[in-house]
Amino acid sequence: QESESFYDAVGGAETFERLVERFYEGVAEDPLLLPLYPEPDLTGAKERLRLFLIQYWGGPGTYSQTRGHPRLRMRHAPFVIGEAERDAWLRHMRDAVDSLGLAADQRDRLWKYLEYAAQSLVNS
Ligand code: HEM
Repeated sequence: QESESFYDAVGGAETFERLVERFYEGVAEDPLLLPLYPEPDLTGAKERLRLFLIQYWGGPGTYSQTRGHPRLRMRHAPFVIGEAERDAWLRHMRDAVDSLGLAADQRDRLWKYLEYAAQSLVNS
């Protein structure tokens, strides 16, 4: 029998909803990141990130059912992502991760992944 997914262990959909909401509160006020977003309304972007993270961590596969293969590097190619953009993204994400109140080992696992993923999307 497979062990519980990380998605379930950290509280399921509600936890990812809180994570992404908090993260986008930061993005919405960030003069470096906000102009990168093609649509002024961040609702769609929020949903895509939330569904992607849910799928990545073992929850429902709604992201790929609606968006196809993630191909994150390709999907970020239209945006200039240098070290400053990466750092700003990670700063808001750190704030969001810390706001969840997870156990330290879960928080660290989530954070390590986000750091690694953000670095992998630097393209400039
Ligand atoms: C989409 C910026 C890192 C996951 C986007 C979009 C922008 C953006 C501007 C378009 C918004 C939209 O969906 O309409 C950035 C910047 C990053 C970064 C500046 C800094 C390194 C990440 C990381 C992840 C991620 C680390 C995953 C862990 C996604 C996903 C989408 C997205 C899933 C939607 C893709 C789609 O289905 O079209 N990002 N991103 N991003 N980003 Fe990022």
